Amino acid sequence: MRQQIKQGRNARRRFLRDLTRFGAAATAGTLLALPAWAQGARIRLGLMLPYSGTYAQLGTAIENGLRMALDEGRGRLGGREVEFFKVDDESEPSKATDNANRLITRDKVDVLIGSVHSGVAMGMLKVARESGTLMIIPNAGADAATGPLCTANVFRTSFSNWQPVHPLGRVMFEKGHRKAVFITWKYAAGEESLTSFKEGFTAAGGTVVKELFLPFPNVEFQALLTEIASIKPDAVACFFAGGGAVKFVKDYAAAGLKDKIPLYGSGFLTEGVLAAQGDAAEGLMTTLHYADSLDTPRNKAFRNAYAKMFKAEPDVYAVQGYDTGLLLRQALDRVGGDIGNRKAVVAAMESAVIDSPRGQWKMSKAHNPVQDIYLRRVEKGDNKVIGVAWKALEDPARGCKLG
Ligand code: PHB
Repeated sequence: MRQQIKQGRNARRRFLRDLTRFGAAATAGTLLALPAWAQGARIRLGLMLPYSGTYAQLGTAIENGLRMALDEGRGRLGGREVEFFKVDDESEPSKATDNANRLITRDKVDVLIGSVHSGVAMGMLKVARESGTLMIIPNAGADAATGPLCTANVFRTSFSNWQPVHPLGRVMFEKGHRKAVFITWKYAAGEESLTSFKEGFTAAGGTVVKELFLPFPNVEFQALLTEIASIKPDAVACFFAGGGAVKFVKDYAAAGLKDKIPLYGSGFLTEGVLAAQGDAAEGLMTTLHYADSLDTPRNKAFRNAYAKMFKAEPDVYAVQGYDTGLLLRQALDRVGGDIGNRKAVVAAMESAVIDSPRGQWKMSKAHNPVQDIYLRRVEKGDNKVIGVAWKALEDPARGCKLG
């Protein structure tokens, strides 16, 4: 009897053990058959941004904004956790394709995010077009990315170089300026800003009397400032950003030009650098798709939350990083985290409505924001909005065949 009971117990134990083994194997089999997203694998974000050099601060602000947007979504995209892979691209175009390729082949990122510098973004774009990798540009304005080289898997959450300066020519003409000098770095962002400015200023009736360049990221402005003083134009317009913008604005004032020849710029001139520019920036007028003082509950809430999280004031770069996070969250929530479902992800991004601190915006057919451009003036160390320079401005996307 005892023996029987013992045998019964053993059989039951064996049965339970086998059942457990079978269950585990069955579960493992099912898991192996499931795609990575359904297993809850992390979404891999590849960040290529400048963390050194004249644009270092811009890269950090973009990353901060992105992290904040993800944080607000409890750190998940479409229910999946997120992993970051970061590269300091040094704003060095010659290293861009290698860096992007490494993120894709070694780190197996699902999305390439970058960069600040137009030349670097063009290198990334080449890799994204060849590999089909999803790419989001959180700053670089290179017109071609959402122009002749536009492609289904590449989106921009910032601006095209054409956009922020297009209204500037009209603004300056209306202020009574007829002859202007344009000064900038000699690379895509500077050259495309100049082309756009010239288009607007000439159409309004003005003339660009001289174009002055220096190599990126050179800040030896003295000889060019002397030339401006001798030309005596009605006004000067420029594109500079980051550390170079601090030096240019200070040197312009120190050369005694500030009160003689009004200085204007695309708004990057005074973004994130006002404290460092000090009095030299007071009164400067610029055009941009954001302004610190935008008086909306959305902007105020964003600014408060960012200041609390990073102990720093946000700028346009932080907003663009933040909107990159909002775009990712919206698209991946829509597809339930299935980032491999490229068609659905692209469709979700194309139809996204971004409730941004800059104001609500949507993607153009070329995958670039359609957005308001504000006229701003520096007042007491703040970029004050003094009007909308152009409502819902859409890049002409010349040569883009999407949509
Ligand atoms: C660019 O290279 O496209 C660029 C860089 C910095 C800016 C704006 C545009 O602030």
